[in-house]
Amino acid sequence: MVALLAGCNQLTPNTLSPKSTSGKDIATLTYTLFGILAGVLLVVWVWLFLAVKKFRKRPESEASQTRGSFKGEMVWTIVPLVIVGVLFYLTLHTTAQIHGQKTSMSVTVTGHQWWWEFSYPQGNFKTADELHLPVGTGVAFSLLSADVMHGFWVPRLGGKVDCIPGHVNTMSITPTSTGIYLGECSEFCGSQHNKMRFLVVVQSAPDYAAWYADQQKPAAQPTGTLATAGAQLIANLQCSSCHMIRGTSVQGTICPDLTHFGSRLSIAGDTLPNTPQNLRLWLKNPQAVKPGVIMPDIQLSGRQLDEVVAYLEGLK
Ligand code: CUA
Repeated sequence: MVALLAGCNQLTPNTLSPKSTSGKDIATLTYTLFGILAGVLLVVWVWLFLAVKKFRKRPESEASQTRGSFKGEMVWTIVPLVIVGVLFYLTLHTTAQIHGQKTSMSVTVTGHQWWWEFSYPQGNFKTADELHLPVGTGVAFSLLSADVMHGFWVPRLGGKVDCIPGHVNTMSITPTSTGIYLGECSEFCGSQHNKMRFLVVVQSAPDYAAWYADQQKPAAQPTGTLATAGAQLIANLQCSSCHMIRGTSVQGTICPDLTHFGSRLSIAGDTLPNTPQNLRLWLKNPQAVKPGVIMPDIQLSGRQLDEVVAYLEGLK
């Protein structure tokens, strides 16, 4: 828990500390609207104070009431209309700016209960709960859902846009600094909605190219007795009906692709850091980590758990 919380601090999902062009546009808009509205509030307070001071009840006079002022009504209709018009224009302008950004690569995002699938169509591979992007490159996202409505949101990079079953939504992001950013599901999608998180790893161009080339490769051959036995087990158990490990007989398509599982930073929708201990915990009793998850408890013995963990963690 301590390690997890320490990780949370680094990954604070702060929309006012943007690390992308659209994130910056949104933060600028937020500050501008806040400034305008703070100005309105200030004017109201000053007038209220002056009115209270000037028209307060004095012993010698009865306060007089005025009714019907054409000039007054025009002022308090037109001034708010102009203010709202300005806010509307600024919002529209920012929206157009975000949608108009140039993109040179695409990623398809599919929300599942409760994990994220990132498909790199040009590279012909998929990742789960971990999105890698090159810094300074505009990325066009196609957003889909496999089941219910989810919401794709990376607070420091922009968003949020719904993932709707049977409908494709689009959005673009151009990250401006390398780093790891927290992504979240922003649409309530079931009991484990809060454990539907993901990590966005923004890398320099060479680092990203190296990662990309690695991901395109099929799964590594197991080394050592434990891992070899683990590979055998996974192929023979029901894991293969859901999961995919490219280059092996494990060819399921409905659950996370495990081809490069060992290279991932976290597991189970960014619920736990990817360590052998956590993976063992997850495999031993997935329902304890994420109640309601479709991953079954397949009743592995202690030895079998060690074997599967050794194999999966070796899939760098
Ligand atoms: Cu998916 Cu909330």
